[in-house]
Amino acid sequence: MTNNIDDKTALGLIESARAAREKAYAPYSHFKVGAALLFADGTVVQGCNVENASYGISLCAERNAMTTAVTMGELAPTAAAIVGERGEPCPPCGACRQFLAEFNRDMDIILENGGNILFYKLAELLPFDFSGDSMVKK
Ligand code: THU
Repeated sequence: MTNNIDDKTALGLIESARAAREKAYAPYSHFKVGAALLFADGTVVQGCNVENASYGISLCAERNAMTTAVTMGELAPTAAAIVGERGEPCPPCGACRQFLAEFNRDMDIILENGGNILFYKLAELLPFDFSGDSMVKK
């Protein structure tokens, strides 16, 4: 399947995710994550992880970005860049895959790998997912 965005746009989105990562609140894991979502109208929405002393209620960067996007009226990202440690791929956790799939399974998932960009489709990272269609009564 073809990518929704080109390499230059992907690099810019990675930079946005990197800037969001600077804001991460991760005093427990010390693992900072940044995410940036791109929309068809050019809007970029950032998110970072926000941890809590009650560890289980911590928020991932991707879901944080997506809920901000919905609040802004942006519903279907064409691409999502996610960054952790510089140059190391930071694949989205299972919960974030599911959460993002609600909005666009065709979105590009963009990760860093050394100096390279990795492109995935969300659908390939979350095959046979549970969705609204799964609840349609036969
Ligand atoms: N984290 C994210 O923000 N996104 C992911 O997809 C994976 C994990 C965060 C959660 C937690 O604050 C830290 O990384 C370590 O798990």
